[in-house]
Amino acid sequence: MTGDDEIYKGLEGVLVTESELSYIDGDEGRLVYRGYDITDLAREASYEEVLYLLWYRELPTEAILAQFREAMAADRQLEDGELSVVRELAQQDAAPMGALRTIISTLSAYDTDAADEADPQNLVANVRKGRRVTAKLPTALAAYVRYRNGEDPVSPRADLDHAANFLYMLNDEEPDPVVAETFDMALVIHADHGLNASTFSAMVTASTLADLHSALTSAVGTLSGSLHGGANQDVMGVLQEVDASDKEPTEWVEDALEEGRRVPGFGHRVYNVKDPRAVILAERSEELGEAAGDTKWYDYSTAIEEYIGSEKGLAPNVDFYSATTYYQMGIPVDIYTPIFAVSRVGGWVAHVLEQYEDNRLIRPRARYIGREDREFVPLDER
Ligand SMILES: CC(C)(COP(=O)(O)OP(=O)(O)OC[C@H]1O[C@@H](n2cnc3c(N)ncnc32)[C@H](O)[C@@H]1OP(=O)(O)O)[C@@H](O)C(=O)NCCC(=O)NCCS
Repeated sequence: MTGDDEIYKGLEGVLVTESELSYIDGDEGRLVYRGYDITDLAREASYEEVLYLLWYRELPTEAILAQFREAMAADRQLEDGELSVVRELAQQDAAPMGALRTIISTLSAYDTDAADEADPQNLVANVRKGRRVTAKLPTALAAYVRYRNGEDPVSPRADLDHAANFLYMLNDEEPDPVVAETFDMALVIHADHGLNASTFSAMVTASTLADLHSALTSAVGTLSGSLHGGANQDVMGVLQEVDASDKEPTEWVEDALEEGRRVPGFGHRVYNVKDPRAVILAERSEELGEAAGDTKWYDYSTAIEEYIGSEKGLAPNVDFYSATTYYQMGIPVDIYTPIFAVSRVGGWVAHVLEQYEDNRLIRPRARYIGREDREFVPLDER
């Protein structure tokens, strides 16, 4: 595909492998997981069903889902040692994404399948490892937030599903059903998205036959950047700034564009139209505002969307409306990106399994443009 002389900066448009996991139609604004439209999955399926679909290729039957939920719930509890690392990170006030990166890495030390690192392509052990990380991350994130607030962590409850249990552990109270359903939907729509940067970094790591935890640790570091998962927190920062000022939201954007700054939550490498996940979350954001009797966050967002659409032809991506959705659910702003990781870990695991199944070391080249034929000068003569 790529000729020797051509450079595809940022690998834009380059096909590097085949995948059965997710398909993005950037012109139609469509996202599909294993053939199922994300809009149907968001409305009808739980995060656990989607995890099962990603890892085992098919949607589960009711009986299989019950078993899978049970296995996930049984994996939620953190070991004492894992919890003490979380406590230490919170006490050090570690940045949440940095803390999550350390936590994923730490989980490998306690994983009973870690000995299988000698055979990183052991599929059965990898699914178990992936399930444990996915089950434990919400527990670790909720504990981190509570320790940081000077509170004790709340033990997971096996009778709640993945989404509701996280909110329960975060707030020490059962979530309102609409809030829990919205959060589950957010987890579903963030679970996978083709070869986004964090997924690709997991695949690169796995392609060296490094173990699953190493691949997931690479991925979580990659997600933290403001051009990727970090954007959802930046969006809320902008909206809060607008709210605290006497400026119209459009004025803020006008200034930002004039100064050549990027507006977080807009633009995408693959979508040329509005991200279908943003369509789903915009509805939720509006509904949450209406239920609370104040739609100002949604109104700011739509004003910005309209303005930047007409001025720059840019459409919102998933991060634009997840920000106000989470904000109205009372979730602390600085854990929006960790929550992205709590969901996307399902996709990372699935892509790593796919990579191991048909592995080839990922190793591109750069065109060398440095100096040539320089004469070496010994240290004491420089
Ligand atoms: C997502 C993103 C990194 C994709 O970048 P990309 O595919 O490399 O696109 P480019 O950086 O080449 O941008 C193309 C053009 O659109 C502009 N653009 C893209 N996103 C923009 C944004 N959010 N605000 C303002 N201008 C933007 C660029 O300035 C560039 O304009 P130019 O051709 O006049 O220089 C980019 O849109 C972005 O930075 N968005 C904001 C961060 C964000 O929301 N990230 C989450 C993604 S899910």
